[in-house]
Amino acid sequence: MIVAIDGPSGSGKSSVAREIARRCGLTYLDTGAMYRSVALACLRRGVDPEDAETVAETARTVRIEFLPDGDGQRVLVDGDEATAQIRTPEVELAVSPVSANPEVRETMVAIQRDFGARGDIVAEGRDIGTVVFPGADVKVFLSASPEARARRRAVQRQGGNLATGEDMAVDADAERAILADLVRRDDYDSSREASPLRPADDAHRIDSSELSFEQVVDAIIGLSPELAERAEGRRP
Ligand code: DC
Repeated sequence: MIVAIDGPSGSGKSSVAREIARRCGLTYLDTGAMYRSVALACLRRGVDPEDAETVAETARTVRIEFLPDGDGQRVLVDGDEATAQIRTPEVELAVSPVSANPEVRETMVAIQRDFGARGDIVAEGRDIGTVVFPGADVKVFLSASPEARARRRAVQRQGGNLATGEDMAVDADAERAILADLVRRDDYDSSREASPLRPADDAHRIDSSELSFEQVVDAIIGLSPELAERAEGRRP
């Protein structure tokens, strides 16, 4: 079974996809982490993220590994620890041109399809329902207002738990900076030529601005009898 969850930065798709994977016994695939890993490999190897040919070569030769780690996962890039490094502002800047590179996308999509061919997965990203798995069993396009998304990121960066701590006070300047960066990345991801962010025609659209984390997870599981059965433990 393949569950595809797409949406803009900060829509909550990573936490939601991870929870669906846990409750329904699916393997979680974070495709954003793959593009971030290529961007990190470029920075480590001294490759200019705008140098399309060398970036494409980096994508073809980099080794990206996901290792289960408690409730989350560790990421190794070329055998070296990269879990925290792929979330730094430097990588966040480099990842836009890297993920807009059609040859990089071709390489990543092939790996993602191979992953899907080997088991039941929930994959999240920008083009999962449109390009990677157009025949996915369940497709969701998860969005939220830019303000709601910026707030969640700010809570997350201050160490808050999105499932329980959405009311925590956040630094207003930090929240403003996050909002500006989200809007910049949304524009870039939606207007690029290669696989722009857009909902698949047959995707279920969910706006999570006014929904709790649990409500979003339950709404997605409720879309599919197979997911509901898995969550009830009938199909572990
Ligand atoms: O979801 P994220 O913020 O970790 O994604 C990091 C970057 O990778 C983001 O700028 C969009 C891009 N991306 C993409 O182009 N296609 C995907 N399937 C996933 C992420």
